[in-house]
Amino acid sequence: MKPRKIKEKIYYVGAPDWNRTLFDALIPLPDGTSYNAYLILGSEKTALIDTVDPSKKDVLFSYLADIVHIDYVISHHAEQDHSGSIPYVLEKYPSAKVVTNPKGKELLKSHLHIPDERFITVNDGEELSLGDKTLKFIYTPWVHWPETMVTYLVEDKILFTCDLFGSHYATSSLYVEDEKIVYEAAKRYYAEIMMPFRSIIQKNLEKIKDLDIELIAPSHGPIYNNPNFIINAYKDWISDEPKNIVVLPYISMHDSTKIMVDYLVDRLIEKGVNVEVFDLAVADIGKIAMALVDAATIVIGTPTVLAGPHPKALYVTYLANVLKPKARFVSVIGSYGWGGRTLEILKSNLTNLSVEIINPVLVKGLPEKEDFRLLDELAESVYSKHKDLGIVS
Ligand code: FEO
Repeated sequence: MKPRKIKEKIYYVGAPDWNRTLFDALIPLPDGTSYNAYLILGSEKTALIDTVDPSKKDVLFSYLADIVHIDYVISHHAEQDHSGSIPYVLEKYPSAKVVTNPKGKELLKSHLHIPDERFITVNDGEELSLGDKTLKFIYTPWVHWPETMVTYLVEDKILFTCDLFGSHYATSSLYVEDEKIVYEAAKRYYAEIMMPFRSIIQKNLEKIKDLDIELIAPSHGPIYNNPNFIINAYKDWISDEPKNIVVLPYISMHDSTKIMVDYLVDRLIEKGVNVEVFDLAVADIGKIAMALVDAATIVIGTPTVLAGPHPKALYVTYLANVLKPKARFVSVIGSYGWGGRTLEILKSNLTNLSVEIINPVLVKGLPEKEDFRLLDELAESVYSKHKDLGIVS
């Protein structure tokens, strides 16, 4: 493949991964993903911006077939989907240096065993001249590991952001063509990778807000030729204000819990509260993560099994806890046979969230009249909490 031109002397040399179905062996990828790398031919120096997942190194090297010299490999992030091919690049280009920050150097040494002498470390805000092009490095920690940084190509107004602003979307298009499709893919990406670091991302966006940006070139998904599209989406996702949404993941074994879920959902809808319901027997975990980006309330529906929550309910609770969404309220509904510690166990898995627990409704066996009255109360409580937040009328 010939390098794909973005601007004069700036090329795309990355790889779509059409067939990847899971990221982090966890989140489904309905649209695959990509590992983007970029080549910049300065008048004096040549820089490669990130590499690709080692499974796609042949694609990268096919792009680099006619490139006889690389001076710098800019490593924004030590995770292997971007860094994993660096050792092969260093082997092909023996005088190339890896440019990263001190934390990046530490992590790259630990994960890839790159020797000390192959590194140049840069400070926050430091610039590196390629002759007629200048790279400015900006530390943006925790998007997605502690070492992550972005690079601003000053003369061409391109911001290379690696994971930040990425989308899980394999496409042959260099640029975003359909913002609706990329919005979904980028939100899925944000939900799984970025959401736990929401408050830090707020600070990182502050650091780049004064840059004059024409293109945002992430290392997953297409390039943004309308940077405000993704910046504004991020501003919405990282904001502290939740939306009028209840996320309701549930599992039911003999329908008692499902009857309660269906009843509660109807009552919430009647009150103007939006609900996103997920049957954990079949749900896409990525969709649940996406719903958690905005929701004000989480209600977990679970039967009691072997004295505790169903393992799938425990799993989604744990996931919500580590993703640290902006939700303000949590409740639990479900049916039990004779007892158990369901509520206690779920609560002990929600310690990362600053949430108010709204009265759970746990009923013995098949729900009856009094149980439905308690679900009415729960719906009313959720509605009134959302009303207090000013997110429902
Ligand atoms: Fe795309 Fe955190 O790696």
